[in-house]
Amino acid sequence: MVRRHGQLMDTSLLSPEIQEIQAQWDLSSPELARGFVEEFKAQIRRGLHHQGPSSLAMIEAFIPKTANFKPGTYLGLDLSGTNFRSVLLSIDGHQRVEGEPLVAVTRIPTELKQASGSRAATSESLFDFVATQIKVFLENEGVSGRQIRVGFTFAFPTKMTGVSSGLLMKWTKTWDVPDLVGSDPVEALESALEKVGLGHLRVNVLLNDTVGTLVLGYFEDRNTLAGGILGTGTNFAAWLGDMGFNFESGNFDFGSLKPRIQTAVDRQLDVESQNPGQQLLEKAVSGRYLGELMRRLMLPHFKALSLQVPDIIASDDLSHVLADCGDFPATGAFFDRLGIQGSSPGDRQLARSIAGIVMTRSAQISALVVLALLEYADSALEREHVITIDGALYEHAPGYPETMKSLLQQLLGDRSARVELKLVKDGSGIGAALSSAAVEASAEVDALR
Ligand code: BGC
Repeated sequence: MVRRHGQLMDTSLLSPEIQEIQAQWDLSSPELARGFVEEFKAQIRRGLHHQGPSSLAMIEAFIPKTANFKPGTYLGLDLSGTNFRSVLLSIDGHQRVEGEPLVAVTRIPTELKQASGSRAATSESLFDFVATQIKVFLENEGVSGRQIRVGFTFAFPTKMTGVSSGLLMKWTKTWDVPDLVGSDPVEALESALEKVGLGHLRVNVLLNDTVGTLVLGYFEDRNTLAGGILGTGTNFAAWLGDMGFNFESGNFDFGSLKPRIQTAVDRQLDVESQNPGQQLLEKAVSGRYLGELMRRLMLPHFKALSLQVPDIIASDDLSHVLADCGDFPATGAFFDRLGIQGSSPGDRQLARSIAGIVMTRSAQISALVVLALLEYADSALEREHVITIDGALYEHAPGYPETMKSLLQQLLGDRSARVELKLVKDGSGIGAALSSAAVEASAEVDALR
C-alpha cells in the first residue's frame, strides 16, 4: 500500500475481497458526499430552530465572539478524555499571551472514569483527583494563594444554563460516572477545590473542548469559523453570527444515509457499545473506536483475534501500521502483540489495507462535516475561513490531514483554497484560559454600561 496524492491507500494493490470492503467504506463519491452535507445542514437547521428532530444538539456556548481579552493570569482546565490538563497563562496589555503557557498533564486513572468491577465511579472521587492535580500544579508554579479566574473545559455533552454553569446530558467516549448525569460539573469542581483549600478560585466559564479550540483559533486569526476535535472523541463548534455553538457533531446519525454509511461492522460495534444508537458519527471517526473497527474487520482473517477482548487494538496501532515501511517491522510487532506470531508479508499487507480503509473513512467523514458547516455559514464560500483542529488523530495519523484536504479539494475545486485547516495544540486548555479572559473583559464592559 503506497500513499499517493495525499490518499492513505493505492486501491490497485488490494485483493478483490478487500477492494469490496474498500468500496463499501469509501464515502468520496460526489453524490454520497453531497447527500451527507445536505443532511448535516438540514439537521443543523432543525437543531438550531427546534424545528423537527435533529441528532445535532446545537448547544449555545454563551461565550462572546470578541477580540477583547482582559489582561491578567488565567487557569485553563481540560477534562476531556485520556488526560487532565491544567494550563496557566497570562495576557498582557497588548492582548498577547506572555511567553509560553505553563502546562501540566496527568493521565486520568480508568477507575475514576468508569466502573471497576461492581463499583461505579463517583463524581466525588473524580473531582477530588482533579482538585489535587490543580493544587500540586499551582503550588509548583508558586501561585496557589492567588485569586485566579478559571476556564473549565468539560468535553461531554452539557446543556449550558449560563456562561459558567451547565448540566451534563450524558457520558460519551466510554466514560461512565452515573451520579454526575443531570448535575453541574462546575459545582462538583468548586466543592472539590474548596476541600483542598482552593476555595478562592472562581470558575467564570464552562465550555466544551471544541469551543476552547474555536476561541483559541479566533484569538489567533479572525477568519476562524470553526474549531474541531479529532482525538479520542470528535466534535465541532462554530460561530454562527456572533454566537458560538457546540454542535455535538459526534452524535450525527447520518439521517437517511445511515443504511448506506453504517456497515455491518459499525452496527455490531454500536449494539455492543455503552450507548447503542448514539454517537454514531463518533463511532465511525474517533480514536476511541478506530482500533475496535479494525479488529472487527480483521476477525474473519485471523481467528485468534476472536479470543481477544475488545479494544485490544488502539488508534495509535493504526497510525504505526500506516507509517510502517520496508518489510513492515512495526506491523509485524503489532501482530506479535496480538498473539499472532510469524505474520507473513500478506498478513502485514492486509492489516495495512484495513487500517487504511478505516482511517480513510474517518478522515472523509471529518472533511464532510467541515464542508457542511462551511456551507451552512457561508453558502457560496465567498470568504476565507480557518478551521482549527486539535486532537491526536489529526496530528499523528499518517495522511489524515491530506485525506481531508484532498476530499475538500475534490468537492470544492478552486474554492478549497479559501479554506485553511489548521492544527492547534492544547487548544482546549489554552482556549479555556482565553475564554476566561474574554468573559472577564465582557463582564467589565457590561458593568460600564
Ligand atoms: C463529546 C463532545 C466532545 C468530543 C471531543 C465527544 O464524545 O460528546 O462534547 O467535544 O467528544 O472531545
